[in-house]
Amino acid sequence: MLLCTNLLRLMSDPIRIQFVCLGNICRSPLAKVVFRDKVEEAGLDDHFEIASSGTGDWHIGDTADDRMRETARKHGHSLEDHRASQFQKEHLAEYDHVFVMDKNNLNDVLYFDEDDEYDGKVRLFREFDPQPDSYQVPDPYYGERDGFEEVYNIVDRTAAVLLQRLIDEHDLQATT
Ligand code: 4NP
Repeated sequence: MLLCTNLLRLMSDPIRIQFVCLGNICRSPLAKVVFRDKVEEAGLDDHFEIASSGTGDWHIGDTADDRMRETARKHGHSLEDHRASQFQKEHLAEYDHVFVMDKNNLNDVLYFDEDDEYDGKVRLFREFDPQPDSYQVPDPYYGERDGFEEVYNIVDRTAAVLLQRLIDEHDLQATT
């Protein structure tokens, strides 16, 4: 029952998930498309609404970082349609799960949770990583190319575990 945070969600409602990083041009856009593609492969599209955002506002409207786009493409995922957006306070009520990439994102998102209503639905994404290391997805933006590949590997294996946990918890069946 670890993921069952929103008792008001109806069985027929999609599970609303938002991935959050700082700029919304590298890590969370990748997490979104990798998770979405796993959902599609499993025929579970009807069960999910998936979004991403950044806690910062510098990149609103921007495409994903070229290096992240290239890494995604190399592994069969497309970030071409991505445009960056910023996390909003209202998202805490609107989404069932908010998965953040690092502890700064966690602090920044929980800053909006003035009445401590939503901390159960805000989680470090790497809590689901079988090799969680620091429990944070390292920020690749100022680093070398291999940092983007490392982010991909973390996101790919973590998204697989996360999806399986949600399938098990909600007894999700393929519809497409
Ligand atoms: P992201 O990476 O949070 O994974 O999208 C970053 C993107 C941009 C910046 C920092 C991190 N920036 O400082 O502009």
